[in-house]
Amino acid sequence: MVKFLCFQIFILSLFCISFGDELNQANLLVHKKILNRFLVEGRDLIVEYVIYNVGGSAALDIHLTDSSFPEEDFEVITGMLKMRLDRLGAGSNISHSLVLKPRKYGYYNFTSAEVTYLTSEEASDVQIGYTTQPGEGLIIPMKDFDRQFSPPYYGLGCLCCNDPTFSWDPIPPLVQKQVKI
Ligand SMILES: *[C@@H]1O[C@H](CO)[C@@H](O)[C@H](O)[C@H]1NC(C)=O
Ligand SMILES: *[C@@H]1O[C@H](CO)[C@@H](O)[C@H](O)[C@H]1NC(C)=O
Repeated sequence: MVKFLCFQIFILSLFCISFGDELNQANLLVHKKILNRFLVEGRDLIVEYVIYNVGGSAALDIHLTDSSFPEEDFEVITGMLKMRLDRLGAGSNISHSLVLKPRKYGYYNFTSAEVTYLTSEEASDVQIGYTTQPGEGLIIPMKDFDRQFSPPYYGLGCLCCNDPTFSWDPIPPLVQKQVKI
């Protein structure tokens, strides 16, 4: 019985040690979002990354690299596909955004970006993580968009872009057809 109890305490302390380590380490969660209401060929497409440190220690030497926007498909207008941050404190968040122009139209699968960081001052191993994936969206040909959206509609679309709660919403083809020219 005593042996068994000792064993249990031993397991429990092991658990506490590893749990304690977790609490003293940085843990980054990164959301990648496309902020546009409509995705249009040749028009600005806004990508936002928000890095949250949900761990118990500052994250150091953070690198965010997005290799999911190949040069032949997207032109970078403002911002960088790579960013570096020295430090992000426990419980803090930071956002980074960039503006791209899709060079082509059609369905596009928006995938994740890579994040690397050190989990504490003492850490020597680089932690590798990935952002969320916005998923597949439809990039509308520029001429169809110009034809289907009269100025009032276009204005409405732009308003939605500025609403942070309104994120990813590619229009299904059926809805496009119902819009009066
Ligand atoms: C992000 O950090 C700001 C302060 O810099 C805070 O006001 C905001 O609530 C944080 N957002 C989340 C989702 O934690
Ligand atoms: C998009 O890419 C991701 C990662 O490669 C994959 O898991 C997912 O199935 C793809 N989605 C579509 C609709 O092709």
